[in-house]
Amino acid sequence: MHNVVPLKVHYYGTPVVLISSTNPDGTTNLAPMSSAWWLGDRAMLGLASVSRTPQNILRTGECVLNLAPAESVEQVDRLALLTGEPVLSPRKRETGYRYEPRKFEVAGLTPQESDLVRPDRVRECPIQLECELVTSHDFGATCTALEVRVVRSHVDESVVIPGTAYVDPLKWNPLIMKFCDFFGDAQPLTASRLAEGWSMPGRVAAASTGVGDRTSE
Ligand SMILES: Cc1cc2nc3c(=O)[nH]c(=O)nc-3n(C[C@H](O)[C@H](O)[C@H](O)COP(=O)(O)O)c2cc1C
Repeated sequence: MHNVVPLKVHYYGTPVVLISSTNPDGTTNLAPMSSAWWLGDRAMLGLASVSRTPQNILRTGECVLNLAPAESVEQVDRLALLTGEPVLSPRKRETGYRYEPRKFEVAGLTPQESDLVRPDRVRECPIQLECELVTSHDFGATCTALEVRVVRSHVDESVVIPGTAYVDPLKWNPLIMKFCDFFGDAQPLTASRLAEGWSMPGRVAAASTGVGDRTSE
């Protein structure tokens, strides 16, 4: 039986992204977020407008999307109640946020120079996407939706299907945020007809033939 439930939160499970952006003093800010999705070479990012990150991206027109692996959960969690914005909103103050300009050091993450944009990448993230801002618009009363274009992708060889330009979905283990809790180690369920239609290499085989088997390799 379904009940009508006035849900307070719609965070059904999305990958955690560490967004690097450039502060007004030229240093790199780092912020965890999970309201992100991709289509083609574009990504949409949903961010609270009072945060430092959207302000940095709107001012500079660029950022890096560092996709956090499940094993980085402790480092990500250290960033959870930090902001690079020196003036805290009343809501952030109540929630327990504090201003922190040295996010890489506090989290125990390593900055790595980018090729085409100014903010540093995060070495510990196997997938790092250098991006430029395309457009933005208000999203509800307090948020900003930023559309960005991926201009360069850096992928650690450990998660690439050898000899291809594809990420191996069995090797890439994203950190997932579901209703404000962290999840990882997602297991394949069944063969996907979308993957078949796209002729994706290294497709996961139907569950009946064994979880994790591939149709080609
Ligand atoms: C796992 C995780 C996911 C988050 N997802 C979002 C999000 O999707 N959008 C958002 O505005 N804030 C999100 N936050 C909160 C931001 O990290 C927070 O607003 C922070 O102040 C941003 O840093 P900044 O102010 O330096 O930009 C998330 C935090 C964590 C720990």
